[in-house]
Amino acid sequence: MARRKKVYEGKAKILYEGPEPGTFVQYFKDDATAFNAQKKDIIDGKGVLNNRLSEYFMTGLAQIGVPTHFLKRLNMREQLIRQVEIIPLEVIVRNYAAGTMSERLGLEEGTQLPRPIVEFCLKDDNLGDPLVSEEHIIAFGWAAQQDLDDMIALALRVNDFMSGCMFGVGIRLVDFKIEIGRVWEGDFQRLIIADEISPDSCRLWDMETGEKLDKDVFRRDLGDLADAYTEVARRLGVLPSNVTHATKPTLIN
Ligand code: TYD
Repeated sequence: MARRKKVYEGKAKILYEGPEPGTFVQYFKDDATAFNAQKKDIIDGKGVLNNRLSEYFMTGLAQIGVPTHFLKRLNMREQLIRQVEIIPLEVIVRNYAAGTMSERLGLEEGTQLPRPIVEFCLKDDNLGDPLVSEEHIIAFGWAAQQDLDDMIALALRVNDFMSGCMFGVGIRLVDFKIEIGRVWEGDFQRLIIADEISPDSCRLWDMETGEKLDKDVFRRDLGDLADAYTEVARRLGVLPSNVTHATKPTLIN
C-alpha cells in the first residue's frame, strides 16, 4: 500500500496530504511542548482529546456562521481539513490578564480587562513569536489592512462563542490563540479559522475554584494535563467513547 505523504510536522500535529486536492489530514500527537519547545513531554491521550475538542469548537463556530478549515473528523486522532495559506501571525484574544501580558504590563493574573484585547505575534520560533503591532504587520506585508480588520472581527466572534461555551460549563476563558488562513474562491480570497482550538492554546480557569484546566498545568507543573483536558471535555459533553487517558492495568485477585 502506498504511504501517504507527510506535508508538515509541527510540535503537536502532523499534516498529511488529503484524499482530495485542497484538503489535508490533520493528525493530533500526544506531544506537549512549552517555552518554545524547551520543555517537552508525551501526555497520553492529549491528541485524542484535542482532536475532539477542536472538532467541537470548529463545528459550533460553523453553525453560527464563522468559517473554519474543519471538514470532518476521520478517527480518534485525525480530522479532514481544508488546505489554507496560513497567515504568519498568532492572533491572541485576552479577556483577563495572564501570561506574557501580566509580565509585560505588571498586571496581576486574573485582572479583568476593560474589553477584550486582540494582540498579534509573528509566527517565528527562532525569534520566540514576538509581539508585533498593526503597523509592523502592514509595513512588512504579513497581512493587508483589510485582512487585519477581518482577522480582528473573526477573533472577536470566536471569543464571544468560546466565552459563552465555557461560561455555560463554569469555566472562565481568560485568553486564547488562533491561527487564520486564506482560501481562494475564484479571484476572491476569504479568511477562515485554521489550525486548532483546544486547551493547548487557551487559558481556562474553573470559575469557582480558579483551578487551571489548560496547558499552564504542564507549563507550570500543576498536575496531570490529561486530567485537566478530560475535565473540559467531560463538562462540554464531548468525551470520546473509548478510554483516552491510559491508566495502569490493575491486578484482579
Ligand atoms: P501568552 O500569555 O502571550 O504567552 P504564554 O502562553 O507563553 O504565557 O499567551 C496568550 C494565550 O495564547 C495563551 O492562552 C497561550 C496562547 N498562545 C499559544 O497557544 N501559542 C503561542 O505561540 C502564543 C504566543 C500564545
